[in-house]
Amino acid sequence: MPLLQSAPRVVHLQSGHGLDDIALAAAGAVHVISIDFSEVAATAAQQRARELAAPCRYVIAEVPAVPLRSNCADLVYTGKGALIWIRDLTAWAADAARLLRPGGHLFIYEGHPMVPLWTWDEDRPRIRPDRGYFERWHENDTYPARGAREWQRTLGQIIDAVISAGLQLLHVGEHAEPFWWPDGIDAAAWHGRLPNSFTLLARLPGDPVHATTGTGRRPAASHFSDAS
Ligand SMILES: C[S@@+](CC[C@H](N)C(=O)[O-])C[C@H]1O[C@@H](n2cnc3c(N)ncnc32)[C@H](O)[C@@H]1O
Repeated sequence: MPLLQSAPRVVHLQSGHGLDDIALAAAGAVHVISIDFSEVAATAAQQRARELAAPCRYVIAEVPAVPLRSNCADLVYTGKGALIWIRDLTAWAADAARLLRPGGHLFIYEGHPMVPLWTWDEDRPRIRPDRGYFERWHENDTYPARGAREWQRTLGQIIDAVISAGLQLLHVGEHAEPFWWPDGIDAAAWHGRLPNSFTLLARLPGDPVHATTGTGRRPAASHFSDAS
């Protein structure tokens, strides 16, 4: 991803187990600050980052209302099962925009809002009769979130939340590949005919104000301290 070549300071919202943070750092992020309200997930991810000497720091906190200073990120990243847990997506998008410096980017890689409608039948894709695209939520009845309430919104509502936060939309892509294939299941709905994930890139208007080093890479050490 070209954005990672500019050594961005990344904030990863709802970072879970944190594997993507290691990948973000390896791909060029000068550092990654990750937010998750799960102490278990954040502690395990911090331990892994320490062992790998990766420039990743984990903050146990709720999203929105992230306890980092405004404009601290060049790139806010989230996805892979994050947005479904957020009741107020408008507040979520506003907090993501607050974290960005002028000219910074928001990148989302997420399950497509149509996904709750697909059955996991292996012979052919079917639409679940008990779900609707325009519902507010549904109860998850599969591994690993069985029994949990997942918030639904249409792709239009997601885009609208991002635009309402003052961000300029640069790209929306719908993809056939799911972001996750549960072990042992090969649903026909994942075989290329239906949308299973989407990507969204948006930008906070304005020009970057941060000084860079002569190489264009920022010094890593100071930035962890400036964010919180
Ligand atoms: C499926 S994981 C996301 C995975 C991660 N983004 C990745 O790329 O691998 C969802 C995470 O969201 C966290 N989460 C859910 N709601 C949250 C909230 N309101 N504030 C902070 N973390 C939240 C959960 O603890 C969980 O670790």
